[in-house]
Amino acid sequence: MVRKLKLSVRLFLFRLVNWVSRRFFASRLSFSHVEAFLFNNSFRKFINFLHAHYEKYLGKTEVKSFPYLFVFEVTNVCNLKCPFCLTGKGISGGRDVRHMSFDEAKKIIDQVGEYIYMMQLYTWGEPLLNKDIYRIIEYAKSKNIFVMISTNATMLNKVNSEKLVNSGIDYVMVAVDGGSNETYEKYRVGGNYEKVLENVKNLVNARRTLSKVHPFVEWQFIVFRHNEHEVKQVEAMCYEMGVNKFTPLPAYVEDESWLPVGDEYKVEVFNPERLMNCDRPWTHLNVRADDGVAPCCYEFKKEDDFGTLVDDAFRPIWNNHHFRTSRKLIVQKRKGLEVDKEDIICYECLTSGIRPSFIDSPVESSDTGLKIAIKNVG
Ligand SMILES: C[S@@+](CC[C@H](N)C(=O)[O-])C[C@H]1O[C@@H](n2cnc3c(N)ncnc32)[C@H](O)[C@@H]1O
Ligand code: SF4
Repeated sequence: MVRKLKLSVRLFLFRLVNWVSRRFFASRLSFSHVEAFLFNNSFRKFINFLHAHYEKYLGKTEVKSFPYLFVFEVTNVCNLKCPFCLTGKGISGGRDVRHMSFDEAKKIIDQVGEYIYMMQLYTWGEPLLNKDIYRIIEYAKSKNIFVMISTNATMLNKVNSEKLVNSGIDYVMVAVDGGSNETYEKYRVGGNYEKVLENVKNLVNARRTLSKVHPFVEWQFIVFRHNEHEVKQVEAMCYEMGVNKFTPLPAYVEDESWLPVGDEYKVEVFNPERLMNCDRPWTHLNVRADDGVAPCCYEFKKEDDFGTLVDDAFRPIWNNHHFRTSRKLIVQKRKGLEVDKEDIICYECLTSGIRPSFIDSPVESSDTGLKIAIKNVG
């Protein structure tokens, strides 16, 4: 029944919950998180959610709770060559480049699914290239999990759009950064603007003709210098098409000449010290297409993984040396203690705030190619 609730009612509930969250916890929530919490909940999930945060609050490094958010990379293959995306550059990070099969996905979901509020079925790669994705979504939905993807929309022909709507997916983000062929193809190299536009229409039409409320469709527009003049025009167009939300997104760039210049989309160098309270090792499970368990979605290289999951049990991995060390570092930092030097990626991580200063030692990873990270000032 709740899945049939009108969008206006769901948006009202979202604003209400978000107001409470901002007012009392100074934290802004996304629509998808609120939907997952309101409509994909259970007593078991809620108790586990409280337990995970309590264990983090206590600074526990060995935990009894389960993660409640699941970032699941169903493929690390892509058909485009976006120049600042590691997959687009053809970098594998030492991983097998492959699709996760339904059977593998099921094995993992069976271990943690009853605690999971939301599954994000992508990290690096185009999720709709995996032919098993519709079955994976259906299976996750049978476990009452909120499911979302971000897609470059190249695969959304009429048949796939209907399959996606029928799978029961809750949220689809279409990543289309431009309002013309010239601007779109500058970043989405290998894509075709007319075709993806048609594809977004296929998705919205499939939802209408199948008389479904879901998925909520968000159009994500990464703002670069070459497309910033088209943002308003695309925003107006996408609402006319029946897209539910338009989001201009600040870009990661490797070359400052790609940065927008207009006041509205001005950016500043990202200051990671503002993000010093990482809770991912208590709350998020990240599994890669090669079944590697990563500490978070920023991690890319196989050698930085914390474990592998398909054939191994979840619980020992969740409390293995890597996870315990990661939690220890975060707790040390939070308590203002001296942080032990440890040979895991979290020690160097910018978002955990463990690394003392981004400004003193700017990011210049030749592996990742990400030289500057930026965020929207406004
Ligand atoms: C690596 S992609 C994988 C999913 C899918 N292939 C896609 O492009 O939507 C994950 C997310 O990163 C976003 N992304 C790609 N390049 C970006 C950039 N330079 N800056 C910010 N976000 C970017 C994509 O739009 C997408 O939402
Ligand atoms: S479409 Fe997505 S995964 Fe593919 S290259 Fe672009 S950003 Fe990367």
